[in-house]
Amino acid sequence: MQSALDPRGPQAARLASLWQVMLIGGTVIFVVVFSLALLATLRRPSPENSYHEHDVRRVMGVALGAGLTILTLLGLLVCNVLVSRAITEVPGDPLKVQVVAHRWWWEIVYPAEPSSRSVRTANELHMPVGRPVEISLESRDVIHSFWVPSLHGKQDAIPGRKNAFWLQADQPGMFRGQCSEFCGLQHAKMALFVVAETEQAFARWLEHQSRSASPPRDELALKGEGVFLSGPCSMCHTIRGTHAMASVGPDLTHLASRKSLASGTLINAPGQLAGWILDPQHVKRGSFMPASDLEPDRLHALLHFLESLK
Ligand code: CUA
Repeated sequence: MQSALDPRGPQAARLASLWQVMLIGGTVIFVVVFSLALLATLRRPSPENSYHEHDVRRVMGVALGAGLTILTLLGLLVCNVLVSRAITEVPGDPLKVQVVAHRWWWEIVYPAEPSSRSVRTANELHMPVGRPVEISLESRDVIHSFWVPSLHGKQDAIPGRKNAFWLQADQPGMFRGQCSEFCGLQHAKMALFVVAETEQAFARWLEHQSRSASPPRDELALKGEGVFLSGPCSMCHTIRGTHAMASVGPDLTHLASRKSLASGTLINAPGQLAGWILDPQHVKRGSFMPASDLEPDRLHALLHFLESLK
């Protein structure tokens, strides 16, 4: 569910009210203007009025119309400025999160000291309910736009520039977002999810995500880890706790805890993950994830290992 008219946070609520004001204002103006135009076409000047008298009334009519238009536009401008101000001022003690847009996925970073404790995840922004979250947004390649309609308006992610704004969710839930600036072939498959949860649930999630991956628990997972580390996977991805430390693709340390794959394209389930690993170009053409030709037993082991990364 993705709707700017179903606000779940203070900013989205203000934007929705502004939209209502604009809609009502626009409708009233439309009705008035068209009624007057209709009236003017139907009315004939009465023969007893002199031409001079008729001209004066027409000039007055135009002046009144222009005055009303200016007043209405000024009123809407004031509403707009007030809403913009209210949604940009960051309230005290925000949680700080970095969001980095890539073609075509979102990297979410929860910075910590030392930086090895920082949490990196993908396409899923967790936040505590009722607490403002200050987001520092940037892009690694082209211009993208971060848009979670239930929480906020669109914010551009521009390469070489940081764009700061804040979000807040008033109630727990999962809110879908979508890149809203055309950024190439898979712009449409660049979704993200905001998971708003209670302060305790969020703290538990963050603490768990900050841990390294637990070592393989059985033979099959150990074999799968071998497949991951000896093959091309480790050249693009990180799994904290192993020697895979590349940052081309998403951090997979807690891959199995995420709800989707490939930025909301697939549900995170073993069959879908297998399809994504074997033939990503079929799922998301143009993606930077290369295809692989793993034998069935190696694929099975790799899947078992990845599924263990809770
Ligand atoms: Cu990223 Cu459109």
